[in-house]
Amino acid sequence: MDAAQIENELTSIVLTTEQIDSRIREIAAEIDNDYANAEKPVLMVGVLKGAVMVMADLARAVSIPVEFDFMAVSSYGSGTKSSGVVRIIKDLDIDLAGRDVLIVEDILDSGLTLSWLIKNLKSRNPKSIEVMTMMRKPDAIKIEVPAKYIGFDIPNEFVVGFGLDYAEKYRNLREVGVLAPHVYGGE
Ligand code: IMP
Ligand code: MG
Repeated sequence: MDAAQIENELTSIVLTTEQIDSRIREIAAEIDNDYANAEKPVLMVGVLKGAVMVMADLARAVSIPVEFDFMAVSSYGSGTKSSGVVRIIKDLDIDLAGRDVLIVEDILDSGLTLSWLIKNLKSRNPKSIEVMTMMRKPDAIKIEVPAKYIGFDIPNEFVVGFGLDYAEKYRNLREVGVLAPHVYGGE
């Protein structure tokens, strides 16, 4: 789905497909370089469901061998804000011991989900653990989340597309756009 097809449901486009593609290629080159001497394939851990598009694009953009795993977590909280209390819905299948782990995220907002996740995965004795996030919102700067690879810093607005949803919709939008208030019951 393209932004042009749902023009009246978006107020602006935050990231075009060209911006997304070229930034992912840049980050992939950094990752190739940083893990050039890794002993085992890098284990990319995607956080469902939002990270699916980033995973698919990033994994194909790198030249190094990688393995995939996915984790689904739910953070208790009201509406669009997360509370930091996290529950594992689907755990990883692969043992992290001795592995180079790269957590792949769609967006870093309060950072609460990711700080919890890093702590949880560190307790499984990986060799290393780093974070790649496609987007970061201003609030994320308040909390110390060590994301090594950051796609874009975006404005503090509710965005959809490239994996990000509103009520499970718009994940398949190619671009990232700001959702128009009338869609979620605003004026
Ligand atoms: P936090 O960093 O713990 O606040 O939560 C980050 C998660 O909230 C992301 O992985 C998304 O699933 C969701 N999220 C945060 N901001 C947005 C947004 O603008 N649109 C859609 N989902 C968002
Ligand atoms: Mg997420």
